[in-house]
Amino acid sequence: MNKAGNNPEFDQVRAIRWNGDHLSLLDQRLLPQREEYIEIHTVEETIKAIRDMVVRGAPAIGITAAFGVVLAAREAWATDQENWKNLVTYKLQQLGEARPTAVNLRWAIEYMQKRIERCQSDPVPYLLEEAKAVHAEDIEANRRMGDFGAVFLKEARAVLTHCNTGSLATGGYGTALGVIRSAYARQYLQSVYASETRPWLQGSRLTVWELQKDGIPATLVADSAGAHLMKSGKVAWVIVGADRIAANGDVANKIGTYAHAVNARHHGIGFMVAAPTSTIDPRTASGEDIEIEERNGTELLHVAGQNIAPENTLAYNPVFDVTPAELVDVLVTEKGAIERPDRAKIAALLGK
Ligand code: MRU
Repeated sequence: MNKAGNNPEFDQVRAIRWNGDHLSLLDQRLLPQREEYIEIHTVEETIKAIRDMVVRGAPAIGITAAFGVVLAAREAWATDQENWKNLVTYKLQQLGEARPTAVNLRWAIEYMQKRIERCQSDPVPYLLEEAKAVHAEDIEANRRMGDFGAVFLKEARAVLTHCNTGSLATGGYGTALGVIRSAYARQYLQSVYASETRPWLQGSRLTVWELQKDGIPATLVADSAGAHLMKSGKVAWVIVGADRIAANGDVANKIGTYAHAVNARHHGIGFMVAAPTSTIDPRTASGEDIEIEERNGTELLHVAGQNIAPENTLAYNPVFDVTPAELVDVLVTEKGAIERPDRAKIAALLGK
């Protein structure tokens, strides 16, 4: 172990790779059955990969988009060296619409757009370095979050997490799962419960796969088992990530997060959100202003290609919900942790 909580043994998976002249993405739709990378050469392929959930998780979507900007700039520069910036602007608008809730997508595009404005000649080498830096800084931020978050888990022994917030959902190490990795490396934790995360099954297909790969014992539970786990004293904390945190501290995250937060407060269990500051959106005043993505009902109606409801069943499939700030005990970011986050504390954190 190089440093407490930063044990590379517990962090083996990398889902996003720049591969010489293109992007390789681990296809998360196929896990855990198959480990296959998709090769991405254009911004159109990047948009499709984000929309179809080849890559998912707010920070991973942002990093992928940063590389997508490089691909867009490469094509535009090759097409028209006079007018390439205008060509890129149109593509980046489409990239920004690939998924609506994760604000990291917009953050990464705006970050790269500022770099584009500085370009005078071939933009590709400079933008590629910037995209690689976005990736590396995400991993570094996750490690710092791990250090800040683990402090709260000294007596925890067992935690519940929801969705997948690990190396698959980020550049590496993870947000909530990064805190769990750091706490496990310090021997504060013996068990990690993962809720299966219907309907896309990020918990069972991805989190359990990732933790097994990294040698961290994981136990799968149904989403609806959360309240029972808490009531029977099996977990001391619920730890989740976020897709967007409003200026007042309201947290949009995977559908089912809100129920875990309500149950945690009822049972006196800690509720922790771990997210980089790029997930905090000062332009969104409160959770009511966050667009909640609704995906196709087939995600609910089918499991592994099998119909699990009668023909012609109507399905409503919102894939995120909003947990009000007052249910959050701790918000962990790479700039530090704040207890009982609110508008003032968040503004102070962002000003650091
Ligand atoms: O629909 P997904 O799989 O992209 O949703 C992911 C989540 O909700 C994660 O909890 C969130 O992005 C935080 S990931 C570090």
